[in-house]
Amino acid sequence: DRKIKIAPSILSADFANFGEEIRAIEAEGCDWVHVDVMDGHFVPNLTFGPPLLAAIRPHIRTVMDVHLMISPVDAYIDAYAGAGADILTAHLEAGPHIHRTLQAIRAAGCKAGLALNPGTGLDAVPHLLDMVDLICVMTVNPGFGGQKFIHSQIEKVRSLRAMIGDRPIHIEIDGGMTPETAPLMAEAGADVLVAGSGVFKGGSVQNPGVYGENIRAI
Ligand code: DX5
Ligand code: ZN
Repeated sequence: DRKIKIAPSILSADFANFGEEIRAIEAEGCDWVHVDVMDGHFVPNLTFGPPLLAAIRPHIRTVMDVHLMISPVDAYIDAYAGAGADILTAHLEAGPHIHRTLQAIRAAGCKAGLALNPGTGLDAVPHLLDMVDLICVMTVNPGFGGQKFIHSQIEKVRSLRAMIGDRPIHIEIDGGMTPETAPLMAEAGADVLVAGSGVFKGGSVQNPGVYGENIRAI
């Protein structure tokens, strides 16, 4: 039995209150903190740069899981590593040299993650298995929180689990995780579930118990 980790996405937190939001979700039992970096180019939305990550880093006691939805990637790896990322995940679709990008992430001292959009197949994965610590299967099109889970990704995760076998590589699911969809992904072989709206909805730093209920429900 695989223990499923929950990684709340602070994309759904109160942006004026990151320190307290992070303390609240960690006190309520989350495993990692997922940080969604968007550049307005690879995805049609803009979020956080390296100075913001450096500012929230001291508030994170678990794992800072950084999802780079940016293109190009390589020029920014040292900045995001320097801001304190434990895991840096780059998209296969972000450029022609994902192998080089993954090498650079490890060279910068971070664990390396590979993210796949919903429309991307697994063809490249066998060639990258010795380069990655995590594979993130996007179950929504990246760019926004609160979107609907894409069911076609269940079979992809099942195939990915078979490819990975017993290698120490996390399968992370990102997008649309609810108490209904999360068990489907756990059953298919995922071991880390990102949840933004699913964790933060209905709660606040004044009422953090709701975060805990949401985390346990997923
Ligand atoms: C989407 C981001 C996700 C997102 C998940 O581009 O990568 O991490 O915040 O949000 P929910 O859980 O609301 O789908
Ligand atoms: Zn994400």
